[in-house]
Amino acid sequence: MSAVPADAPVPPAFDVSNDVVEAVAPEREIAVEVGDNIMEIKNLTVKFGGLVALDDVSFNIKRGEILGLIGPNGAGKTTCFNAMTGVYKPTSGDVVLEGVSLKGVKQHRITRRGLARTFQNIRLFGEMTALENVVVGLDARHKTSVVGALLRLPRHTREEKTSVERGMALLEFVGIADQAGVLSRHLPYGSQRRLEIARALATDPKVLCLDEPAAGFNPAEKEDLMVLIRQIRADGYTVLLIEHDMRLVMGVTDRIVVLEFGRKLADGIPVDIRNDPRVVAAYLGEPEDDVA
Ligand SMILES: Nc1ncnc2c1ncn2[C@@H]1O[C@H](COP(=O)(O)OP(=O)(O)OP(=O)(O)O)[C@@H](O)[C@H]1O
Ligand SMILES: [Mg+2]
Repeated sequence: MSAVPADAPVPPAFDVSNDVVEAVAPEREIAVEVGDNIMEIKNLTVKFGGLVALDDVSFNIKRGEILGLIGPNGAGKTTCFNAMTGVYKPTSGDVVLEGVSLKGVKQHRITRRGLARTFQNIRLFGEMTALENVVVGLDARHKTSVVGALLRLPRHTREEKTSVERGMALLEFVGIADQAGVLSRHLPYGSQRRLEIARALATDPKVLCLDEPAAGFNPAEKEDLMVLIRQIRADGYTVLLIEHDMRLVMGVTDRIVVLEFGRKLADGIPVDIRNDPRVVAAYLGEPEDDVA
């Protein structure tokens, strides 16, 4: 079952012998050690009318770590992402990225400051190819003016070439380079999820927030995704991961924050979270045997 229509645009040639990591993250320090706080979530509260979706939640994200954010349905995980990335204005509290508050900062500027995210419900440009979707993300970083782009001034030409090369490198990195020319709505579901990650990476984030990237995946696809997330971290990114699959969360994260009814219930290393009776009760509502 090929999702590639016969008339699909031919993707530009990409020399896979190039160092993909180099193209993906040319100025990035590779293999950053888990260290200081890159982000601080401070007493974050989000209310929707009478509903308190996030209630005075505080936690830190350390540079170079994979931090899990878990909790039952409706616990406030996505709301937390939305408040961090400027989709929702927090009712109170603050989000600090590299020592600078994001309070009142617009969404696209938050992206520019280095915070990128994927969506629980995939949001791609369906009528654009995979490559084009990534290039749009790359454009968020570009300096060329609209006038410059229209007149095709030298800088624009240079950036366009670089965008295509970097876009291809990102697709290669997430494992879908062979589908670069396929309209994203024609991509298999798993490829769409990977494309979302590539598009987020294209903004050259310092912190990458993934909202249930394995939703709908079979066990083999989940294994592959774990490999990709580890690779993303190994390339110097900090990752915040919302995920329901306990095996995946326990297998890939360095630390886990647990939310329940909008409040932080626990914050610790996976083995402690796994054995925390409050977490087991809250998350599963079932005996510990079910945590697998
Ligand atoms: N825009 C909104 N308007 C009103 N209520 C909202 C809005 N967004 C979220 N909520 C409510 O806030 C609470 C937290 O929702 P949220 O989507 O953050 O949960 P979640 O932990 O991501 O859950 P899931 O695991 O199901 O994705 C829920 O009660 C939800 O109904
Ligand atoms: Mg959610």
